Amino acid sequence: MIEGDGIGREVIPAAVGVIRRLGLGLEFQPLNVGAERYLQTGEALPEDDFAQLETADAILLGAIGDPRIADSRYVWQTLGRIRRELDLYANVRPARLLCGRLSPLREPGPRPADITVVRENTEGLYSRLGGRFKPGTPGEMAIQEHVSTFQGVTRILDYAFSAARSCVVLADKWQAMPHAGALWQRCWRDARAAHPDTPARHLAIDACALHMISDPWQFDVIVTENCFGDILGDIAGGLIGGVGLAPAANINAVTGRAMFEPVHGSAPDIAGTGTANPAAAILAGALMLRHLGFAAEAAAVEAAVADAIEAGECTADAGGSLSTREAAVAVARRLG
Ligand code: NAI
Ligand code: MG
Repeated sequence: MIEGDGIGREVIPAAVGVIRRLGLGLEFQPLNVGAERYLQTGEALPEDDFAQLETADAILLGAIGDPRIADSRYVWQTLGRIRRELDLYANVRPARLLCGRLSPLREPGPRPADITVVRENTEGLYSRLGGRFKPGTPGEMAIQEHVSTFQGVTRILDYAFSAARSCVVLADKWQAMPHAGALWQRCWRDARAAHPDTPARHLAIDACALHMISDPWQFDVIVTENCFGDILGDIAGGLIGGVGLAPAANINAVTGRAMFEPVHGSAPDIAGTGTANPAAAILAGALMLRHLGFAAEAAAVEAAVADAIEAGECTADAGGSLSTREAAVAVARRLG
């Protein structure tokens, strides 16, 4: 368990309180990974702590990011390192509208939006390959490389098909990125052939972004590369009422390693005010429970979150007036 920074230190204890209510006997081991320690010791994620993450059944993380630390290496050595070195290649962002009031859309649509963005989490535009040439001069040039590998694309497409309930959409930009596009298309053909019973479509990423707003009800699973998935994940979060309600899982389906986190960051603008919505962290906890084999308990937590929000027993961003802790108690109470 890593609370991390900002509101991570508020929403993770709230989420753990809800999970403990289920009495499953799970042991939570807190790790002090965050900006305070980094600023004091210069070490973001000490080896001893990383070794504990490697042996944990699952990782629950709040948020990493602090306005006092401008150096991008801080996030790269913490969140980035966990995703990279545990090879958590699938970033899964299920976004289900829990309550009609939370939708930003004018029309309610035929059913609640329920989209899972499956984002490739280890390569793509976030490979950090590239460099700067003649920095600081008028001739400065920057290269930021997109990397797609056969293995990386194959496994994320496999994951997407395995997560699909009704259909899979591949979103990419193959005309503008023809090299990566050709590799993705090759793997896409293989994946479709391996899953002939799952309806599958290919959309341009920009059209996909538009359709998510104009007709989100058509989607089930959307699979895409790292940066595109980062953006679509936030659009999906917006459709269900904001990042305070959106959970994410980082999974390696082969090794079973996984980290669960809210989609939101450390929200320094509201950190310490006790107003952060704990729902995203609680729902991340529910994803973790499902991963650990507690499917019924996960569903109960999700239902309790929806019920509390429906009743207005939630934080201000979701239309209520409760504090972080009170909103979590409102969920826990519904679990008996
Ligand atoms: P953010 O998600 O922290 O905040 C965006 C906006 O949403 C803010 O106005 C915030 O008040 C609001 N918000 C976020 N979570 C909320 C919640 N639970 N309840 C109510 N309102 C909530 O994104 P931002 O401001 O871009 O980033 C802040 C820091 O977090 C940065 O250092 C960034 O790098 C880091 N970050 C970390 C992430 C992670 O650990 N996975 C993800 C995104 C950002
Ligand atoms: Mg993001």
